[in-house]
Amino acid sequence: MDVISVIRTKRDRGRLSDEQIDWVIDAYTRGHVADEQMSALAMAILLNGMDRAEIARWTAAMINSGERMDFSSLPRPTADKHSTGGVGDKITLPLAPLVAACGAAVPQLSGRGLGHTGGTLDKLESIPGWRASLTNAEMLDVLSSAGAVICAAGDGLAPADKKLYALRDVTGTVEAIPLIASSIMSKKIAEGTGSLVLDVKVGSGAFMKTLEDARELASTMVGLGTDHGVRTVALLTDMSTPLGLTAGNALEVRESVEVLAGGGPADVVELTLALAREMLDAAGLRDADPAKALADGSAMDVWRRMIAAQGGDPDAELPVAREQHVVHASTSGVVEVVDAYAVGIAAWRLGAGRARKEDVVQLGAGIELHAKPGDSVVAGQPLMTLHTDTPEKFAYALAALDGGVLVGAPGASFEPKPIVLDRIA
Ligand code: URA
Repeated sequence: MDVISVIRTKRDRGRLSDEQIDWVIDAYTRGHVADEQMSALAMAILLNGMDRAEIARWTAAMINSGERMDFSSLPRPTADKHSTGGVGDKITLPLAPLVAACGAAVPQLSGRGLGHTGGTLDKLESIPGWRASLTNAEMLDVLSSAGAVICAAGDGLAPADKKLYALRDVTGTVEAIPLIASSIMSKKIAEGTGSLVLDVKVGSGAFMKTLEDARELASTMVGLGTDHGVRTVALLTDMSTPLGLTAGNALEVRESVEVLAGGGPADVVELTLALAREMLDAAGLRDADPAKALADGSAMDVWRRMIAAQGGDPDAELPVAREQHVVHASTSGVVEVVDAYAVGIAAWRLGAGRARKEDVVQLGAGIELHAKPGDSVVAGQPLMTLHTDTPEKFAYALAALDGGVLVGAPGASFEPKPIVLDRIA
């Protein structure tokens, strides 16, 4: 087998054989295929696609590149969720303890932000003392004692995906449905969860800009999960505007704690409950009532136990950025657009995200929205506050917001978009 013939097969729109796929994933993981060769293959896959059987084999090869975890010793059914990434998407923070409070075990392996989408681990690291890296034994301990754990995937889990994802990120080959589906599902299947709910984001702030592409991605992932014995369901959810009122690490933790305390923005609560119901249903816990667990404080109790078990102080003050800049409405009217991509890029420029993996994020940086689509505003009213430790970035962030916030005529009618756009099982 040689890598050039594998690249040529896909370049010429052929099907990769099982042997080609197994060989190239194994050889790349071991360093026998060079990054430039794998990037040529990734680009050929992006341009020419893969059929379902190729995607299934590619996913299996990535799972087999590393270890598989096993939570079958736990007395509770396991349930996990994965979001394809968005702006202000802090849902994992209230969701994992909420679902645990309702009786499931939630092993939530999460990632860091790259580009305009935030990462759950970066958000949680704004809690003083909290540790993202756990050994497998520590992960099992937190899961047993708190019911939920949110941590980084260890190096042993799908190492082929770790290498390939980093390569795709710098070669313009992230947005390929076969590569996204196999990347996400290889990690989730190797993690050993019994059931999985996928939150596939659609809109300007998501990888998938159209419902059609999002449906294709969702049904590919649901098929992969089901074939591997994981009960998998996907919700397609709106990412045309940020979720909630905050984008940025500590700002989002604060908002998540509000949700766990029974408050928080309506869209965050609605999506948290919709995903919780799906997870509990997939885990066979159909009688559980997540709305009650939010209201009676039991989800908050799990949150506090989970944060403390990972070294964090749930009562500690969260970091606050040194400088703020308020953007005011220039006219009166109804807010028509707060564009997720524009807000995500602006938050990233303020320091909330990283451009390269080794960059350090500013924990207090980000954007706080004071108005969302459908709200009426008067000229001079604050629309948003920008937070950063590096005020020289304000102009750069404001440039990203240019055209991303639109205020229409006073009294203009506004048709709110539903958050959950479709369900694929
Ligand atoms: N998240 C992943 O884990 N992989 C992708 O390819 C895209 C989003």
